[in-house]
Amino acid sequence: MLILPGGIDAHCHIEQESSTRIMTADDFYSGSVSAAFGGNTTFLPFAAQHRGQSLREVVETARDRARVKSVIDYGLHLIISDPTEKVLEEELPSLIKEGYTSFKVYMTYEMLKINDREILDILALARKNGAMTMVHAENNEVITWITERLLTRGYDAPKFHAVSHTPIAESQASRHAIDLARLVDAPLLIVHVSEPEAARAILDARNNGLPIYGETCPQYLFLTAEDLDKNGMEGAKYCCSPPPRDKESQEAIWLGLKNGTFQVFSSDHAPYRFDETGKLAAGPNPTFPQIANGVPGIELRLPLLFSEGVGKGRISIHQFVALTSTNAARIYGLLPRKGTIAIGSDADIAIWDPGKEVTVTWDLLHDNVGYTPYEGRTLTGWPVTVLSRGRVAVEDGELKVKRGSGEFLPRYLSAAPRPRGQLLKVEATH
Ligand code: URP
Ligand code: ZN
Ligand code: ZN
Repeated sequence: MLILPGGIDAHCHIEQESSTRIMTADDFYSGSVSAAFGGNTTFLPFAAQHRGQSLREVVETARDRARVKSVIDYGLHLIISDPTEKVLEEELPSLIKEGYTSFKVYMTYEMLKINDREILDILALARKNGAMTMVHAENNEVITWITERLLTRGYDAPKFHAVSHTPIAESQASRHAIDLARLVDAPLLIVHVSEPEAARAILDARNNGLPIYGETCPQYLFLTAEDLDKNGMEGAKYCCSPPPRDKESQEAIWLGLKNGTFQVFSSDHAPYRFDETGKLAAGPNPTFPQIANGVPGIELRLPLLFSEGVGKGRISIHQFVALTSTNAARIYGLLPRKGTIAIGSDADIAIWDPGKEVTVTWDLLHDNVGYTPYEGRTLTGWPVTVLSRGRVAVEDGELKVKRGSGEFLPRYLSAAPRPRGQLLKVEATH
């Protein structure tokens, strides 16, 4: 067996309303149970502000939901879609002091996106108060321009989602976001990177001494745009943003995990059922822009990376632990309590059977989604026992901890200016 630090899923959408007010299929109970069975002991879902809402209120709602349901420990990132004066001057600074030290901003989605001035306000505030800004980097104008042209020509099937969310929209927005962070010397983490040019921009920025970080997710290693072209509406299950790309992009993302471009490997679990509560909320035959974005992956994130990364020699076991646990703990202010096995740290431990073979079917999983994009894959290596703060959480295929026994984790980051130019240059070649 291998004794590893429990996984930290640093990007997942749990009991969260989308911008079109569709509720995710997993609440803090099913989401945390599924996470625990997948070898995780901590997760960081979002408290999402929609326009007109008070940030303080959305945080309280998320805390109330998590407190009574989560079986593993959790922190909360914020999503800021309405950075009013009150948010910037009162709510956000006080929430940062209370341990909500990371927030995501969107450059796309009509109801979530904020403009450059607003992004700069948030970056500058994060720098001053010791917080991390995460960005969903896709150019909204490019996406909507392509979308309109596709729809007028009748190209509305799920596969056109991947056409509209072109890699150029992602790379352009990623470079732009890096420049905004550079302007105010603020740290920035680009989430769910799917394609090589955005990856290259992150690596270049860091090699130039900038505090720019990157995250990627299983869907960019294991799925492609062809999955969106499955029979009928099946492709809707694979619609997420950015979308899965092609085989060459998958290779570039693997390389980025290996060469230090990406620090964090998260699930971006955004669970929507394949019915009227989720993917088909707009009817049985929605056009691609009407399909709720997101794929599930909270339980398979670690087994997928272990089997295909460590098992196939693409990354080392040390890289696996850093990418799935320690780096997230460091970047998001959880180290040394989480992300490491050490005296004084929480005993958050996943015991892995590296030879255990599992053929994935949704029935084996513990989420509430009803399908998995990874159905039928055979994986080698599985977290068989999970300990959370020393308590056995999962053993022999059974959950051993109670609903609501997870603890809230306030997080604190340093507001000090970061030293420049101390990073090792990494070449993005094999
Ligand atoms: O398609 C995705 N990733 N949906 C979840 C929301 C987000 O932007 O991360
Ligand atoms: Zn996003
Ligand atoms: Zn997400």
